[in-house]
Amino acid sequence: IILHVSLMDTLVFIISKVSGKTGTSVSIPCSYDVKHKNHVKFLCKGYYFNYCSFAVRTDSSQGIEKYSISEDKTQNNLNMTIKRLTADDTHFWCGVEINNGADDRQYFQLSVTTGTPSLSLAHQNVIGYIGDKITINCNYRNSGGVRWCKLGSTCVTKATVSGNIDGTAVIINMTISNVTMSGLKPESSGWYYCDTGDYQRPVHLTVTVKPTGKYVDPKVHIITLGMLSLAVLVALLMWFIQRCSKSCSLFSLCCDGLAPRCVSVIRCFIQYY
Ligand SMILES: *[C@@H]1O[C@H](CO)[C@@H](O)[C@H](O)[C@H]1NC(C)=O
Ligand SMILES: *[C@@H]1O[C@H](CO)[C@@H](O)[C@H](O)[C@H]1NC(C)=O
Ligand SMILES: *[C@@H]1O[C@H](CO)[C@@H](O)[C@H](O)[C@H]1NC(C)=O
Repeated sequence: IILHVSLMDTLVFIISKVSGKTGTSVSIPCSYDVKHKNHVKFLCKGYYFNYCSFAVRTDSSQGIEKYSISEDKTQNNLNMTIKRLTADDTHFWCGVEINNGADDRQYFQLSVTTGTPSLSLAHQNVIGYIGDKITINCNYRNSGGVRWCKLGSTCVTKATVSGNIDGTAVIINMTISNVTMSGLKPESSGWYYCDTGDYQRPVHLTVTVKPTGKYVDPKVHIITLGMLSLAVLVALLMWFIQRCSKSCSLFSLCCDGLAPRCVSVIRCFIQYY
């Protein structure tokens, strides 16, 4: 469930309930209003906002190991990471500091379990290529199915199963809980989340140009190098012979001494190599 809170002129989007496994990390996005680009953002821990304690802020050094916060000002969103999850990591707020006014903020809940969470994703960061498709597995343990959403945009729901989000085609395969997005564009990049209704799980997609360089087996390089060396050796030998081939007989070479002269191949090698 996405909460869209509008308090006077404030606006914060965040997913409301995220599941995670003990000991792992989870990155949670939070998007804020463009007009608050230059404000301080923070992650605060506690059930009541007035009593919550800052976990990490964008204006202080990131010395805290347990939490990290980073900001993408082009997308107006935050990446808040909570590491080494414990059952105590439950109530949090994503906030934007407003001077002389109430901070713009939104509550979210973490559900940390020791077993496999009811909703999990293998990877939180995925890379797709322009024009390609990408398949993401949303492991979930409920019969209701999932919906796939882009943070701050629309969702493809279990009712529609296929649709598009900002022009990118989306197909949800309910039987294997896979979501496929095709015809990827650079604009398809961003935060998405799987939503079972009870839980959400965010994943960040980066769409880039497909690398053109083909993978070359190291063995091929060795063979190429070997053949090149052989060619150079043969060329050298030819040049060597060429130098005085006119005056030397068939089985002798012109050895490169101070005074080139014709000697047998064997003698030449013993003498000079
Ligand atoms: C479902 O998604 C997972 C993870 O991306 C992938 O490994 C698997 O092959 C997909 N299954 C199908 C049938 O596409
Ligand atoms: C879902 O995936 C299964 C297994 O790969 C496949 O047999 C089935 O046709 C897919 N369903 C849709 C609607 O694509
Ligand atoms: C979010 O922050 C974590 C921790 O710094 C990092 O590992 C992850 O890659 C970040 N995700 C994105 C989409 O920037």
